[in-house]
Amino acid sequence: MRVVRDPGLLPERCVLVPTMGALHAGHLSLVRIARDRAGGNLPVVVSIFVNPTQFNDARDLEAYPRDLDRDVHLCAQTGADIVFAPDVETVYPPGVKTPSPKLPAVAVQPGLEDAGRPGHFAGVCQVVTRLFALCRPVAAVFGEKDWQQLQVVRALVQAERSSVQIIAGPIVRERDGLAMSSRNVRLSGDDRIKALSLRRSLDAAQRASTPEQAEQAMHAVLDVPGVDVQYAVVRDAERLEPLRDTRRAVGRALVCACVSGVRLLDNDAWIGPDIR
Ligand code: PAF
Repeated sequence: MRVVRDPGLLPERCVLVPTMGALHAGHLSLVRIARDRAGGNLPVVVSIFVNPTQFNDARDLEAYPRDLDRDVHLCAQTGADIVFAPDVETVYPPGVKTPSPKLPAVAVQPGLEDAGRPGHFAGVCQVVTRLFALCRPVAAVFGEKDWQQLQVVRALVQAERSSVQIIAGPIVRERDGLAMSSRNVRLSGDDRIKALSLRRSLDAAQRASTPEQAEQAMHAVLDVPGVDVQYAVVRDAERLEPLRDTRRAVGRALVCACVSGVRLLDNDAWIGPDIR
């Protein structure tokens, strides 16, 4: 396993797992998916880059956990071939204006990520475009935990007519059901118990017959002191618009809440009652 900082030393083609480091079992499951897709012929590259342009809160960027040695060790154990760890000047060369791709509509759906983190997906689209240009992947693996991000990247690739295949990796959960996230290390024991309400709200949504009832059920479960709900909604799974044909819908329940200042996301399928 090699650590590469200079993109000139990357292979011609690869399967890419873009990350911001602080790797956990969820990321490692994406590396295994990449390894399967790559087979014996293509190298698996894990990029580790804490992208400043997708943080709209300087404190969040500052507090983002970083431990490259540990991440490299985990990547080596999991079957990656290369860790690509560029510095900011490599991704965004000074004096060169990095183009920002047109933001897909799914990135700015009202009531979702854009409401609490304006500009976040502009930064994600910018860095994904740069990482694809530097790493030249034939396929890239993104986690379903960031469901809206996955739809944004899919829409971006389609709009740009890019040939990169986007592969989705299922959410990996802690034993207690909490979706794995690099931010979980910032939760105290008490916060952890509160954070479990996110998973429980998704379970409550499953039993509801309409998106409205599902959203009410989610909010009822999330009504816990110390849980600051950003959104709890049921939307079309791909475009993330409000659902139309709700009885036969293949939707997605999405929840975001802050617990002691830690922003947590989770989601699950929501299937209309006629096709359950
Ligand atoms: O999901 C992440 O870790 C980041 O948003 C990504 C896709 C690596 C872009 O910085």
